Amino acid sequence: MDIVILKDSEQVATAGARVLQKLLMEKKAAVLGLATGRTPKAMYRQWVINCRESSMSFREVTTFNLDEYLGVQPADVQSYRSYMQRELFDHIDIDQTNTYLPACAADENPLDVGPRYEATILEKGGIDCQVLGIGQNGHIGFNEPSSSLNSRTRIKTLTRETIESNRQYFDDPATQPELAITMGIATIMDARKILLLATGAAKADAVRQSIEGAISASWPASILQMHERVTVLMDEPAASKLERLDYYHWVQDQKRRVLAQNESD
Ligand code: PGA
Repeated sequence: MDIVILKDSEQVATAGARVLQKLLMEKKAAVLGLATGRTPKAMYRQWVINCRESSMSFREVTTFNLDEYLGVQPADVQSYRSYMQRELFDHIDIDQTNTYLPACAADENPLDVGPRYEATILEKGGIDCQVLGIGQNGHIGFNEPSSSLNSRTRIKTLTRETIESNRQYFDDPATQPELAITMGIATIMDARKILLLATGAAKADAVRQSIEGAISASWPASILQMHERVTVLMDEPAASKLERLDYYHWVQDQKRRVLAQNESD
């Protein structure tokens, strides 16, 4: 794991934007896995700025979101489709027909959505870079604790704590969904690269358990220890409970030194 500890959430956003810029320079038609929630918003703002002010383009990019609420229609302001339009898609040059979420149409059998989503991801060549946030309980996507580490896109029941954490987005609690369709853990692990963002002290336990704890379905993000190419960008509050903090800083110092050395050669 490439563990990068930065001062604050703005630095996390900037570093995340740099990862994407590099990827799009290497592959214009990249396939991105995207996340919703509070954490990636600042990074998406950077993507929008880079798209307007530099030559960065999403014209050939395809995106797959991690999850969508079940029973919430795309036009609904609380849907993750609406979030993505608001935060990103409406402000960049992406072809909107290449943006996918695991949404279930009103007349569709929800059990059909997962296999179809998996097939579409494969058709598009698989995900080059998957952006992830992390729940306070260690969930990635809506893969709540106890999710099979080998799961695929499917319906999940949300935990009480996740419902509580997302309550602020629903004026009427009675309309808040308790079910979602989410990429599975195996779906996420298929991505060629993973970019996990974590900001704020509320994530410190989840970050510690996922990076330094045992691999366990009780902390779903801990499976990322098994992935070959993971970058974790976090701010200091999110990193505050890590035991090997000094080592992670030391590694990044070494990397900077090697880079500087190569540039001066
Ligand atoms: P957050 O959500 O970015 O709103 O904290 C992250 C998550 O639940 O995966």
